[in-house]
Amino acid sequence: LFIANWLALLIDSVVINRVSCVDGLLLKRRVKLGSLLILGGNVFLRLTHSRILMFVSTTEWQRWEYTSYQTLYGGGCEIRGRDALLIQPFAGTNLKTHLEAGTLTHTMLEAAALELQRAHRLGFTHGDPHLENVLVDTTRARLIDFETRHESRLSLTERQADDLLVLLLDLLGRDPTMGWLDLSRTFLSVYEGPAVLAELSRRLQLPRGWELILWKTRTNHLSQPALSERIETLRLFTERLTYRQSSIQ
Ligand SMILES: Nc1ncnc2c1ncn2[C@@H]1O[C@H](COP(=O)(O)OP(=O)(O)O)[C@@H](O)[C@H]1O
Ligand SMILES: [Mg+2]
Repeated sequence: LFIANWLALLIDSVVINRVSCVDGLLLKRRVKLGSLLILGGNVFLRLTHSRILMFVSTTEWQRWEYTSYQTLYGGGCEIRGRDALLIQPFAGTNLKTHLEAGTLTHTMLEAAALELQRAHRLGFTHGDPHLENVLVDTTRARLIDFETRHESRLSLTERQADDLLVLLLDLLGRDPTMGWLDLSRTFLSVYEGPAVLAELSRRLQLPRGWELILWKTRTNHLSQPALSERIETLRLFTERLTYRQSSIQ
């Protein structure tokens, strides 16, 4: 598992894209050797049972981002040349920045849950909706960064639950205070879908081996005792919420 830890650190540190500003638009370009890095990244994602993959082909990546913007926002992203995209920037700030600045609010988590739910109802799942990939502008949240897709063997419910898990792991791993718990409760309470919540409860078990390495990277390397405790607290809450939502329906 030493290799896995090492791979995880490497993957956290590699840069695959460069984003710059051009006439008020964002130019997102894949770096040279980006595809090679992704090939290595996909080995890690496979070994750690991440359930997602990245696009080795630059063209496929461009198409996926383009189509994601079309599906979710009706546009806002154009393919530029062989290795870049031109993206219309949204206003707002990502949830990670808010968390670190101490300005993350319940309203923002509600907005994030509603936006994920809206995407999910369109049959769309993100694959990597960590806090930095969710922008909030007062009361509206938007997903960005469409570089991964879920493995096609997964059911829609499994993919939806995986999205919720990724966001929650980032929140519970990154918040040094106990604020994460109330914020997570708010987030989950807004998301309607007992089947997805039931699947999420099943997923809220600390994995072993390689998958644990993935969870460490997704939880900002929170210590294992703290991680276990937080996961279990969240699992109990999710189970109760699932039960409540199921009995209402
Ligand atoms: N649609 C967008 N609106 C506003 N900012 C964006 C948008 N897309 C990307 N960005 C900015 O560029 C950064 C990097 O883009 P992103 O698509 O997340 O790529 P990556 O995280 O893989 O480098 C984001 O963290 C965000 O600051
Ligand atoms: Mg990103």
